[in-house]
Amino acid sequence: MVLVVLLAVSLGATAGDREDVEMLQIQSRPRRMPVIVDTDMDTDDQMALAFLLGEPSIEVKAITTLADGWSNQWSGVQNAMRLTQAWGQPDIPVAYSTRYNGDTQLNMMQPNDLPNPTLLTGIGNFLSEFVPLPFNVRPPSWMYASRLIRETLRKSEHKVDIIELGPLTNLAQVLQEEPELFRKKVRRLYMSGGLIVKRREEGTSEVWPYSSGPDGTSFTGKPPGTSWNIFSDPIAANSVFSFGVPLVIGSSEYEDENQFSTNDTSFIPSSCPLKTAEFLRRAITMLPVANNESESELRYWDESLAVLAIQMIRHHGRKDAAVCKKWERKRFAVMMEAGNDPNVSGGRYSRLLENPFGQRAVQCVESNETEFKTAYYSGICGIYYESPANQRHYW
Ligand SMILES: *[C@@H]1O[C@H](CO)[C@@H](O)[C@H](O)[C@H]1NC(C)=O
Ligand SMILES: *[C@@H]1O[C@H](CO)[C@@H](O)[C@H](O)[C@H]1NC(C)=O
Ligand SMILES: *[C@@H]1O[C@H](CO)[C@@H](O)[C@H](O)[C@H]1NC(C)=O
Ligand SMILES: *[C@@H]1O[C@H](CO)[C@@H](O)[C@H](O)[C@H]1NC(C)=O
Repeated sequence: MVLVVLLAVSLGATAGDREDVEMLQIQSRPRRMPVIVDTDMDTDDQMALAFLLGEPSIEVKAITTLADGWSNQWSGVQNAMRLTQAWGQPDIPVAYSTRYNGDTQLNMMQPNDLPNPTLLTGIGNFLSEFVPLPFNVRPPSWMYASRLIRETLRKSEHKVDIIELGPLTNLAQVLQEEPELFRKKVRRLYMSGGLIVKRREEGTSEVWPYSSGPDGTSFTGKPPGTSWNIFSDPIAANSVFSFGVPLVIGSSEYEDENQFSTNDTSFIPSSCPLKTAEFLRRAITMLPVANNESESELRYWDESLAVLAIQMIRHHGRKDAAVCKKWERKRFAVMMEAGNDPNVSGGRYSRLLENPFGQRAVQCVESNETEFKTAYYSGICGIYYESPANQRHYW
């Protein structure tokens, strides 16, 4: 039924340390589906990327990073490249974004201290200090993010799925440059975070611009009910969502249900390659430390979207992801009313609000946590896992 392919994976091996290469058995589907990953390289992005690189049913064609989300500019590309090397695909092109700034007024003054800068050290050093992986000595792509996305789309014979793990700054830029290429070659956009709600949903008394003082002490964070990936650059989000690409949202509610626990080591499959399993055990121990958060505060944010995307991509974009227990179809637009009067913007700035003129989307709002963890830890170990529920329907 399945083809068995042997792949050399140099996880944990230092450059030149060839004997240390592990043989990882991958049961592969006949065709690997091409994807582009755009990411802001927080620790959840890093772990999501490890999953996407291990997952046998897709092929990551390019990785583009952003520095207006949850990581510093210096760390994102290097961390992505540590992962491509560790998962045996060191030549996947990885690109910086053109600008440090997003398109949004809120983010024009950099650094805007969003997120709180004290949180960025553990994120940036996660794969160099907390769970060290060898440095990938190859140079990053010469192309900036939007060009790398365009060239990857242009070169691809087939349509490509885009997995968005960060703000939409890079994709908005591609759209401004080459909308027709985007329309022709992007099959579907899988978006991490956000939740489409009714316009009259409760707001907050907090007001734009939400930035912190120079010492970081007055940090207010984002408005409740908004998602970082939208709030960090709502104008870019509006561009992409108003364009009308087929869109799947792994909603904040869905992602919130995939709770992190240090007990999750029990989900690492016994057939996981030794070094990958070691990496995972250490990562699970270190995630709360690097993030300076208790395990009960942590969620599998972007990892949740990655698993949802893969399960759908395998079924040609149909809503047949066993990881999702409840779907909703909505039309929506990004809330763009910002101002200092909370009675006008209502603290709803950058929320995704139902809107009859807006973009159509399918959003997942409820997770099967067991299915998520089973699929996630299998994929990251390079093991092809298909839920029994889906096998019944499609095999
Ligand atoms: C982890 O497992 C231990 C032992 O089974 C249990 O006592 C503890 O409550 C679990 N912790 C979490 C966060 O689930
Ligand atoms: C966060 O860091 C502070 C200062 O190092 C430490 O006291 C605190 O225990 C940490 N909190 C968590 C949840 O790790
Ligand atoms: C907003 O509305 C509330 C309730 O109507 C009122 O008390 C408050 O003063 C208003 N705030 C502003 C800034 O106008
Ligand atoms: C959740 O997923 C697990 C693993 O695939 C499955 O055994 C279980 O039946 C699912 N539960 C629900 C409520 O769908």
